[in-house]
Amino acid sequence: MEIRRVGVIGAGTMGNGIAHVFARCGYQVVLCDVEQRFLDRGLAAIEKNLEREVGKSKITADDKAAALKRIEPVLDRRRLRDCDFVVEAATEKFEIKADIFRDLDEVGRPEIILATNTSSISITRIAGLTRRADKVIGMHFFNPVPMMKLVEVIRGLATSEETFTTVRDLALKLEKTPVEVNDAPGFVSNRVLMPLLNEAMYTVMEGVATPEAVDEVFKLGMAHPMGPLTLADFIGLDVCLDIMRVLQDGLGDPKYRPCPLLIRMVDAGWLGRKSGRGFYRY
Ligand SMILES: NC(=O)c1ccc[n+]([C@@H]2O[C@H](COP(=O)([O-])OP(=O)(O)OC[C@H]3O[C@@H](n4cnc5c(N)ncnc54)[C@H](O)[C@@H]3O)[C@@H](O)[C@H]2O)c1
Repeated sequence: MEIRRVGVIGAGTMGNGIAHVFARCGYQVVLCDVEQRFLDRGLAAIEKNLEREVGKSKITADDKAAALKRIEPVLDRRRLRDCDFVVEAATEKFEIKADIFRDLDEVGRPEIILATNTSSISITRIAGLTRRADKVIGMHFFNPVPMMKLVEVIRGLATSEETFTTVRDLALKLEKTPVEVNDAPGFVSNRVLMPLLNEAMYTVMEGVATPEAVDEVFKLGMAHPMGPLTLADFIGLDVCLDIMRVLQDGLGDPKYRPCPLLIRMVDAGWLGRKSGRGFYRY
């Protein structure tokens, strides 16, 4: 089946980026969120980010106008009925995603693939809520979506080969680089990245070095474009803590114990860049 019309659920940071790349690559996009103000905010972000691409001569002003015209914002999930593919990028809470997937299973045609952009929830568990577990898959984009090349394509236990191939090819059509991964807590990206950030936090907590010094070590010694604590602030310390807990619960090894300093900072409401304070002040 040819995919022309794509549903994107959630118009937040990731959803608007995903809608942006699909629309820019010529797909019709139905963008769904729960309140008009979230749709408006998502569309404003897409407009601004497309304009940035015009400024860099990656696309023309006409391409931008055409991409925006291809995006249809909706509040009613039933409007996703005619989509040929749906990717969910709603808030990272199992209950929210469970409700969406049960509903999509009813609303969407039986042959369509349902993908999730979850960072940490089990694809197999989400798939098990539907009657089409073979057509449920992880399509994990990275932030900012229009710029980052990687898409982790995650097979759940029941994901079929056909579903995998379709989503891998779709990522290629979006000019992304798909990497195949099996379903496991944190997949590969967060399984490896989060313990690094967590360990960097331990070095600060134990007085081994200041946040600035830790970040300098990684920028200058390992050629990372940003240090681990700057990155943790950017991702959101609450998000980092949630993912560490997924690794701890899912893998059971004490090495995934969240850093106590991270827990205290989240308790204090120091969530990183978005709250104005994390390992740095903004
Ligand atoms: N932010 C990142 O760096 C990043 C990277 C990769 C993956 N992810 C994953 O992407 C997903 C979205 O993350 P985000 O950072 O864009 O979050 P966000 O908070 O920016 O956006 C989430 C959006 O989902 C909407 N939403 C909530 N419930 C909904 C529902 N029932 N139907 C439709 N929309 C609903 C919210 O209103 C909000 O606009 C999460 O699963 C997250 O784990 C995030």
